[in-house]
Amino acid sequence: MPSSIRHFASLAELSEAAAEMVLAAGQAAVAARGRFALVLAGGATPATLYRLLAAPPFAARMPWDKTLFFWGDERCVPPEHPDSNFRIARETLLAASPIPANNILRIHGELADPREAASQYETTIRARLGNAPFDLVLLGMGTDGHVASLFPGSPLLGESLRLVGVMMEPQGVPPLPRVTLTLAGLNQSRAMLVLISGEEKRRMLQKIMAQGPASPSPAARLDPREQLVWLTTE
Ligand code: 6PG
Repeated sequence: MPSSIRHFASLAELSEAAAEMVLAAGQAAVAARGRFALVLAGGATPATLYRLLAAPPFAARMPWDKTLFFWGDERCVPPEHPDSNFRIARETLLAASPIPANNILRIHGELADPREAASQYETTIRARLGNAPFDLVLLGMGTDGHVASLFPGSPLLGESLRLVGVMMEPQGVPPLPRVTLTLAGLNQSRAMLVLISGEEKRRMLQKIMAQGPASPSPAARLDPREQLVWLTTE
C-alpha cells in the first residue's frame, strides 16, 4: 500500500495539513458510503488537530452527524480521568460539536475488568461496521515505535483474529492495563494518518524506514488497505 512522509516546520502546520486530510477523507467516505468511520488517537500530539477541526473554518466542513468516532486505545480509567483519551477528545473536539451521542463509540475504560471493556468494544465495532473497514485511523507514535497501546515485544502483536485486546503498559508502576485495537484492528482500515512530533520520534521513523520489515517496532507493521501517511515535525 502506498506510504508517504510529509515534514512540517511546526505542530501548527502539521495539524492544519492533518485537518485538511481528515476533512477530505470524511467527505469522500460520506459521498461513497454515507458515513465516516474515524478512529481517534490518544496522546498529546493530536489535541491541536482536534481543536482545529472543532473551530471555524474547518468545523463547517466536517460531516459531524455522519461521523462515527472510535478510539485506537484507552487507559483503564474513568472517562473524566486526566489520563483518559476520551476526555482529551471530548474537551478538544467533541464537546462543542453537533454530534449525535449514538455516534460516540468510546472504550469503557472504567469497567472493573479490562477484558470486558475490550470485548464490549469489539462487539460495538462489529455492530456498527460489520466487516467494513474504518475509513481513517489517526495515530501518534512513541519514541520506542509504539502505536495505540501496542508496545514493542508485546504478545498482543501476534493477535490476528481479535480487533481489540488488553495490554499492560510497560512503564506503569504497577503496570496499568490499557485496551487497544490490535494490528488486525488498526489495519482493518482504508487510510491511516500518523502524527509524529519531535526530533526523537522523527529519528525513530527514519530507523523504521531503514530497517523495513526487520524493524521490531509495532509502527513498522501498520498496513492499511489504501494509504499510510506519516506527518512529522521538528
Ligand atoms: C496513548 C497513545 C499512544 C500515543 C503515543 C504518542 O494513548 O498515549 O495512543 O500510542 O499516541 O504515545 O503520544 P504523544 O502524542 O503524547 O507523544
